[in-house]
Amino acid sequence: MSEPLPSVLTVNRLNKAYNVPVLKDFDFDLRKGEVHALIGSNGAGKSTFAKILTGLTPRNSGEILFQGTPFKPSNKQEASAAGINMVLQELNVIPTLTVGENLFLHTLPHHKGIIARKELHQLSKQALTRLGLNELNPDQLADTLGVGQQQLVEIAGALAQNSSILILDEPTAALTGPEIERLFENIQRLREEGVAMIYISHRMDEIFRIADRVTVLRDGHRINTHDTDGVSMDTLVHEMAGDELAERHPHLEIQHRGPGLTVKNLTAKPAVNDVSFSVQKGEILGIAGLIGAGRTETLRAIFGADPKQSGTVFIGDETTPLSISSPTDAVKAGIGLIPEDRKQDGLLLNKSVSLNTTLSTLERFSKSGLIDHRKEFDATVATTDKLELKYDSVEQSVDELSGGNQQKVVMGRWLLCDSPVLLFDEPTRGIDVAAKETIYNALDQLAREGKTLVVVSSDLLELMSISHRILVMSAGKIAGEFTPDDWSQEAITAAAFSEYISTHERAQ
Ligand SMILES: Nc1ncnc2c1ncn2[C@@H]1O[C@H](COP(=O)(O)OP(=O)(O)O)[C@@H](O)[C@H]1O
Ligand SMILES: [Mg+2]
Repeated sequence: MSEPLPSVLTVNRLNKAYNVPVLKDFDFDLRKGEVHALIGSNGAGKSTFAKILTGLTPRNSGEILFQGTPFKPSNKQEASAAGINMVLQELNVIPTLTVGENLFLHTLPHHKGIIARKELHQLSKQALTRLGLNELNPDQLADTLGVGQQQLVEIAGALAQNSSILILDEPTAALTGPEIERLFENIQRLREEGVAMIYISHRMDEIFRIADRVTVLRDGHRINTHDTDGVSMDTLVHEMAGDELAERHPHLEIQHRGPGLTVKNLTAKPAVNDVSFSVQKGEILGIAGLIGAGRTETLRAIFGADPKQSGTVFIGDETTPLSISSPTDAVKAGIGLIPEDRKQDGLLLNKSVSLNTTLSTLERFSKSGLIDHRKEFDATVATTDKLELKYDSVEQSVDELSGGNQQKVVMGRWLLCDSPVLLFDEPTRGIDVAAKETIYNALDQLAREGKTLVVVSSDLLELMSISHRILVMSAGKIAGEFTPDDWSQEAITAAAFSEYISTHERAQ
């Protein structure tokens, strides 16, 4: 056995909190020329760690030694100048710049302040060729590229930097097979050149292929670090899942009142692949899965917000399939979608609490075109009281409310609509514990009134505490169905990863 390579990065007791602690006394070490995978369920803190290393967010406490000296970058440029670069999980290509400008955004070659176009063109060509992107023209605008190509441009940009440490955060999510192979060839080359890499992915087959070591992060804690050669898939899933039990929410008895929502063979490329399920009236169906598994896209396709290639949707018994090709059709048919991004899809931020609450039901409060503000006021107060919404006046604009209270305004709107089927996408994301509790109570209340509820959440304990049943999606498919009698964090996590494990691994 050869000596382990020297450490380039040592992290001691790193702590970071946003609203709640996200990294907790996290220890980590990275060796020269190794590929070190970082794995964990949604929200474990992986991207946050990467962002601290690259100066995108500050830590609260803890020590980072980079090549033996304390390291505390205050922005991305500083980290990059020191030799730490990253490919971000979210796409960051700037559409209005050319491919070449995107590649060398922070190190544009110039003479006396004027961009050296020829040099930029040449450097870009080289960087693109390395990733097999020979057909791309460095001078074309980035927004002419597809998502996969944009991701590759971003990767090419990071690879072209002179890095001692390169962090790849879910780099292959948007890539196809041959593109992934190219990336791996480049990772291999960089490793031989002595570059240390942190590789964040939930694709277990990739990790077993390219990582030397793997560290498991769960709920902000480092659980373990293994040599990839000596560890099994089962061990990793077990460590990611943990064995904490969910506290059951009190009002759990389901009162079946017949069929609620039925979805058959729904396909919405590329994210949703032949998904079928049904939900009873009065039932809360949870949908679990990793980020990118197709959960949001399933809700959006049912709601008519995204096109679908196939699929039938029924409310009640399966006699007449609904014909939904837009959100307006869905609302008419009796389906509501409460989206994850409240700011983007749900709320008129600079408008009042009352308008935002009554937005979808305004015709009920108007007489010959005029809004009856008294009626609107009463309806708003009745609804928002139910949700324990905290505000100064119904005229207050919603951008002054906390995230939890904004979410309640969106929920209030749907309560007023009285839709029999409600689809919730991450209803408690980013809100505090007390607000979460009222939202759970509202979900319970809706179920007891006989509504049909589908709830997507990345918080497994939350899903286990509020759902009557949980479906697990993995890579666009339904990969498991669990009831309280047979579910555990481990079983659900294993199902969530199942479609990302190569057949080779499964056979072992
Ligand atoms: N900018 C932010 N503000 C508030 N909370 C955040 C922010 N970024 C991440 N979080 C929260 O921190 C936790 C860890 O997130 P993240 O590091 O992105 O996890 P992972 O990459 O492992 O899925 C999550 O609960 C997430 O909601
Ligand atoms: Mg992440």
